[in-house]
Parts: sequence; structure tokens; C-alpha cells
Amino acid sequence: MSHASNRPNSPSSGPRAGLDGVLAGETRLSTVGVTGVGLTYLGYSIEDLSEHATFEEVAYLLLYGHLPTAAELRSFRDRIVANRPIPSALCEVLERIPGRAHPMDVLRTATSMLGTLEPEQGPSDALRVSERLLGVMPSMLLYWYRFHQSGQRIDPTVGGSSIAEQFLWLLHGGPPEALQVRAMDVSLILYAEHEWNASTFTARVVASTLSDFYSAITAAIGALRGPLHGGANEAAMELIDRMQDPDHAEKTLLEMLIKKEKIMGFGHRVYKACDPRSDIIQRWSHKLCSATDRMLLYEISERIESVMRREKNIFPNLDFYSASMYRSLGIPTPMFTPIFVLSRLSGWSAHILEQRANNRLIRPLAEYVGPEMRPWVPIEQRS
Ligand code: COA
Repeated sequence: MSHASNRPNSPSSGPRAGLDGVLAGETRLSTVGVTGVGLTYLGYSIEDLSEHATFEEVAYLLLYGHLPTAAELRSFRDRIVANRPIPSALCEVLERIPGRAHPMDVLRTATSMLGTLEPEQGPSDALRVSERLLGVMPSMLLYWYRFHQSGQRIDPTVGGSSIAEQFLWLLHGGPPEALQVRAMDVSLILYAEHEWNASTFTARVVASTLSDFYSAITAAIGALRGPLHGGANEAAMELIDRMQDPDHAEKTLLEMLIKKEKIMGFGHRVYKACDPRSDIIQRWSHKLCSATDRMLLYEISERIESVMRREKNIFPNLDFYSASMYRSLGIPTPMFTPIFVLSRLSGWSAHILEQRANNRLIRPLAEYVGPEMRPWVPIEQRS
């Protein structure tokens, strides 16, 4: 029998561990680390977006390819708000998920469950599903959280007109201050999109099989959960929490570096000199830490940064100063990565749409490094 295939007999170069530096496809959604351009979403710089836009404007930009007019934005916001209610069968599931579960597991399960209750009705339904998920994701997260924290069945439809405001409102059970809402909004803007990172690539791989929208998002949540990706903001907070003051932070960090431990919230696969999002979130961290009398937290973070730069020449990524900023907003640490989901949902959705618009199954090759071909051994002859 022939096993002929179109597999290259002698690939010009071997595999790249972690697909490092491999150009795997095209996107028009963002530029990451392009010299002289930096981070842009559809051509708009992250500096401009975080200064002037709201998260909803950015989500609209990613989903529809252009900045919304005032009327388009009003209508988009209204649709997101209208999408907040949780079906009762899903409320039951959220109540049954253990209160000690990690909220990322809750979001993964809840997204999958919603896919059984409100399945995507073919590819033309994709934008509706993405808007539904943008509206309901904070509701699902905080319904589960508040139910298990205090036994309350909250009404997720209250909470202001933006995702940032709704999140803080439902978390704390009352209206947040304007400064807090803006800080949260900026954070959502910074997390919204980042080219072919691990979770986005996961979503695109799933979409490339012509699977449904919910499957792609559920898989992406799973990929984001790990500490080398989205989970780094939680891991960074856990590290900062171990430090008593800046001097203690310096001593501990030096010990960790001697042991070759990874410091979460530092370094990046693509960026080599800095993460352009880090300066922006650092300024917000400073603003919030100083407004809430948490300057020690900020000073510890700054010292960790300076030790990392001095000893390893490694810079903080978005996750590092997000940690102290979220703490200043009174957000529990296990909620940090789920916030990333509330935002990146917009980028994932845009990538699923982009993948579908010009689809080809994503199926790379692996170099075989297993045993040589050998004869079958009957079970009674095996030792
Ligand atoms: N702390 C300490 N050392 C680090 C480091 C970190 N956060 N990030 C990279 N390095 C070092 C590695 O130890 C390695 O050193 P070596 O060559 O002496 O062994 C070198 O830098 C390359 O690291 P590597 O893990 O191979 O780079 P990568 O491109 O595969 O990884 C990350 C990129 C993001 C996974 C990596 O920087 C990391 O693990 N960071 C911490 C997790 C994190 O913050 N993730 C969020 C990313 S937005």
C-alpha cells in the first residue's frame, strides 16, 4: 500500500519550538511589535485608543472594521446591554458549579452551556453571538461569584451602560466612581486584541475546522487560562503579595533569579524591548494606587521592575502593572484573568470572523522523532 503524500521530504529548516517567529497567516486586525508602528488595532494606535476611546468603541472597531458613528455606538451599546440577561437554565448551572472553582473554569463552562441553549444558527449568526457573549459574559461571571460569596441571586441587567461599569457595579454591589470606571475601561481596551497570540490562535484553529462560535471561544478561554499567557496577571499579584516592602522584594527576586525561576508579568514572545501597553497601565496603576492609599503596592511593583531590568534586561508586560491596578479597584485576584476574557472576547470574535472569511483548515506538520519502524509483538511475547 502506498503512503505517498505531499509532505516535504527534507524541510528546508527544522521545526521552531513554540512556533517562535513563524509567520502562520495574515491579519488586518492588529500589528504587534512592528518597528515604527507598535501596537495598533486596524491602524489606530493603542496610545490613541486608550486615551480617547471607550472599550465599546474598540470592540465595535474590531467586529465591524471601522470606528462607529455616534448612532452606531449608541445602538451597539444598547444591544450589549440588552444581551446581559442569563437564561434560567444557565443560572442553575452557575449555582451548581462549586464556589471554590476557578472563575476561568466557570467562564469556560458557562460559555459552553450557553452554546447548547442558544446555538449559533449558521455563519450569518456570528455577529449576534459575539454581541451576546460580550453582553452576558460579565453577567455569568458575577452571578456565579455573588451567589457563592453571599448567596445572592443578583440581577445582572443593572449596572450602568458600559461593560467596565457593569463589572465593577456587580462585583461591589453598587455604582463605582468615574475614575474607577475609566481605569477599568482602559484596561479592557489594552487587553482587547493582540494578533496571533496563543488563545487567538486556538480560536482560529477551531474556527478553521468550520466548528461553531462557542466552541472556538470556549477553547480560547482554556488557552488563556495558563500562567504563560493570560494567567500571568494573577501570578504577578501572588508574587507581589509575598513582598513586605521594596527591599524585601529586591532580596526575594534576586533569590528567585538565582534559582532561574520565571517572574510572571515579565517578558514577551514578540516584543523585544518593551510592551507598549505596559507604560499606559503603569500610569493607571500609579493613579489608582495613590488614590486608594496603596502606594506600598506600587513601590514594590516598581522595585521588582527595576531589578528585572537591571539583572535580566527584561521588561514588564501588560499583566504586571494590571495586577496592582486591579487590586486598587478592589478586584479579587482570581478575577484578573476573567477580566482579560471579557475584553479579549472582542479580539477573538474578530479573528473568528476573519478566519471564516478566508478559511483554510489550519493543520501544520510535526517532525517525527519517535522509534524506527518495528515488527508487531503479540501480547504473550511482550516483556
Ligand atoms: N522571568 C525570568 N526569566 C525570563 C522571563 C521571565 N518572566 N521571561 C523570559 N525569561 C528568560 C528565560 O528564562 C530565558 O532565559 P535563558 O535563555 O537564559 O534560558 C529567556 O528569557 C527566553 O525565555 P523563553 O521562556 O524561552 O521565551 P519565550 O519567548 O518562550 O517566552 C514568555 C515568552 C512570555 C512565555 C516568557 O517571557 C514568560 O514566561 N514570561 C512570564 C509569563 C508572562 O508574563 N506571560 C504573559 C505574556 S504577555
